[in-house]
Amino acid sequence: MPAAKIELPYDALLRETMTAMTDTGILLVTQGKNAKPNAMTIGWGLIGSVWSQPIFAVLVRPSRYSHGLLRENGDFTVNVMPTVLEKAVNHCGATSGRDTDKFRDTGLTPLASLQVKTPIIAESLIAYECRTVMSNEVLPATLNTLIRETAYGSGDFHTIFYGRILTVRADPGIAPRGK
Ligand SMILES: Cc1cc2nc3c(=O)[nH]c(=O)nc-3n(C[C@H](O)[C@H](O)[C@H](O)COP(=O)(O)O)c2cc1C
Repeated sequence: MPAAKIELPYDALLRETMTAMTDTGILLVTQGKNAKPNAMTIGWGLIGSVWSQPIFAVLVRPSRYSHGLLRENGDFTVNVMPTVLEKAVNHCGATSGRDTDKFRDTGLTPLASLQVKTPIIAESLIAYECRTVMSNEVLPATLNTLIRETAYGSGDFHTIFYGRILTVRADPGIAPRGK
């Protein structure tokens, strides 16, 4: 049973989050109208302050099952997982919720969020609860040519979903940096 989580300011664990995201990837959890959560690995995202709000922006290609769930439901969670669960993170980046139940496959446990409908993951080290406040498409015409060629060989240009961060919960074993 994981220890009870503590609530932190949105920017308390930025470095830990960015390192995990660019290293192994972290887990975006979405949930559609069928109330079945789905986890997808993401390696790209932004955390910052926009519209005087703390924002987590995630980039999701339209081909992902998660994309439809994000459109169906106005919220999502982002979960930083411990390295011992790397296999589960890999599985969520290699299979689709269209074909399988990734929570069942990996043994990860959905845990009720405090402020959104979509759950966080009980085994996460850090979990961000976000309400979508805007989305837009990556536009090929405005994109750097090299990025367009390397990241979008088959099209499938990402949608960027901007989520207002409502709550950050972390495993108490993680010490906030500089706070
Ligand atoms: C390390 C890693 C990072 C990834 N980052 C992203 C990402 O930022 N955006 C995206 O659309 N897909 C990303 N993917 C691919 C999805 O995780 C993958 O296509 C997944 O199977 C989609 O799941 P879904 O169909 O259940 O939504 C990544 C995969 C891996 C392994």
